[in-house]
Amino acid sequence: MELLKQKIREHGIVVSDTVLKVDSFLNHQLDPELILEIGKEIANRFKNDGVTKVLTIEASGIAVALAAAMELKVPVVFAKKNKPSTLQGQIYSALVHSFTKNEDVTISVSANYLKPSDRVLIIDDFLAMGAASKGLVEIVRQSKARLVGIGIVIEKGFQSGGQELRNQGIRVESLVTVKSLASGQIEFC
Ligand code: G4P
Ligand code: NA
Ligand code: NA
Repeated sequence: MELLKQKIREHGIVVSDTVLKVDSFLNHQLDPELILEIGKEIANRFKNDGVTKVLTIEASGIAVALAAAMELKVPVVFAKKNKPSTLQGQIYSALVHSFTKNEDVTISVSANYLKPSDRVLIIDDFLAMGAASKGLVEIVRQSKARLVGIGIVIEKGFQSGGQELRNQGIRVESLVTVKSLASGQIEFC
């Protein structure tokens, strides 16, 4: 997605050899027009797959998930971090290890919002080690819904998450893949 590459080139900040900061349009401030375009692009890639639900994880996944779900005309469900006391009844949950923060969080989704008849598209902003995506895949598995695939805004190709998920036979579509952040330079695949 050329528009997104341009935005990353202009506004992305290379924090280290492994971390790309995109707070000005995706992770803190949101660029509505770009987010809508991102949503359209992800939706377009899965438009013939009978998606009935988009699944993401709070917080940064929600905006892009909403944009894609608007196009697909299906609801968005976002997994909550650290089981809130308001979540009642049957719950699906998974443990997600954050490599950047070196901590584990439990993510949860109420069984009310994922049914065995659902065809689920997982969406997230970043794919690094894949911990978040793997947690969401586990939640889909518990619900017995069908996983259609995973849509990612920015994949870091030099980290192993994408390959591991694809090796499991999961369809992963990333709008841009960053090949390297070495020496402060953003290189795309
Ligand atoms: P993983 O899910 O692919 O394994 O990644 P990891 O545990 O390393 O990611 C932890 C958090 O950092 C996630 O957000 C993830 O989206 C984000 N992240 C990973 N690599 C990068 C990066 O290079 N740049 C940016 N900007 N974010 C990255 P989170 O903790 O769930 O936070 P949020 O969704 O509330 O923003
Ligand atoms: Na994030
Ligand atoms: Na995220």
